[in-house]
Amino acid sequence: MRLLIVGCGFIGSTIAKAADGMDEVESISLLDSNIDKMEALTLSLNKAKAIPDMEAGIDECDLLIEAASQAAARKILPLALSKGKDCMVMSVGSFVDDTFRESMLQESRRTGSRIFIPSGAICGTDGLRSASMSDLDEVELVTTKGPDSVDGVPYLVQKGIDVHSFTAAAMVFQGSAREAVQAFPRNVNVAATVSLLGVGFDRTRVSVVIDPHTKCNSHELIVKGAFGEMHCETRNYHSPDNPATSYLAGLSAVSALRRIVANEWTGV
Ligand SMILES: NC(=O)c1ccc[n+]([C@@H]2O[C@H](COP(=O)([O-])OP(=O)(O)OC[C@H]3O[C@@H](n4cnc5c(N)ncnc54)[C@H](O)[C@@H]3O)[C@@H](O)[C@H]2O)c1
Repeated sequence: MRLLIVGCGFIGSTIAKAADGMDEVESISLLDSNIDKMEALTLSLNKAKAIPDMEAGIDECDLLIEAASQAAARKILPLALSKGKDCMVMSVGSFVDDTFRESMLQESRRTGSRIFIPSGAICGTDGLRSASMSDLDEVELVTTKGPDSVDGVPYLVQKGIDVHSFTAAAMVFQGSAREAVQAFPRNVNVAATVSLLGVGFDRTRVSVVIDPHTKCNSHELIVKGAFGEMHCETRNYHSPDNPATSYLAGLSAVSALRRIVANEWTGV
């Protein structure tokens, strides 16, 4: 399989390094707007080449992996899907935009390409998906972060909340996933993945807690429905390279790639 990885940051590098050791992966094309990062990653791998031109990269790949930004996803996905290429999307927050999401789904149906969205920084997505095959009464996401992870978030600044003034854990936001995504854009991906799998952006409830004593980015997923009840907690360590990204998010992308190249679907 020939890969095109767009984004050579924490997630893109993690996938690229893992892919370099996979027998099923024939070549890895890398693209990043930061040329130094792209070249450094290319030099550290055996099967990689840096590509200057996105269109040529898409033509030559079997699977596009977007690990860059929402803006990149909006630009690359329409191109890749229109050419019938399978796409793995990490900036899943781009799918909060109903018009964009619907047009990408339509395009993938038209061209027969597939859109893969890894579980990312949260666990329990398997159970949520199964549960959503029957009636769901409630899907709630409670995200707990340390002060540094939410420092400068516009919503908190506008509310006059000093994130470093907390002496105990306190809830600072409650609302729909759609509202949460606007208030906490950096936390958009987990809320988006949960919304896509369950009851959508307007019915998914999100709370954000600031805990001055935590070193983790934690997500509690609470689901109630015809199946029963599920309560799933993930306590994420940050990635070693990027404090904004949970290590598990990179691992979920590697796991997704491994399943795709090996055509192995246990636990889907
Ligand atoms: N699905 C999840 O649960 C989850 C979790 C964490 C992060 N993410 C998302 O995955 C993406 C990558 O995360 P990361 O931690 O690796 O980020 P990062 O900041 O470490 O790396 C992103 C890289 O993409 C490059 N880039 C940005 N825009 C680009 C563009 N338009 N064209 C080419 N290159 C571009 C940057 O130069 C950078 O090297 C982000 O959008 C992030 O929000 C998703």
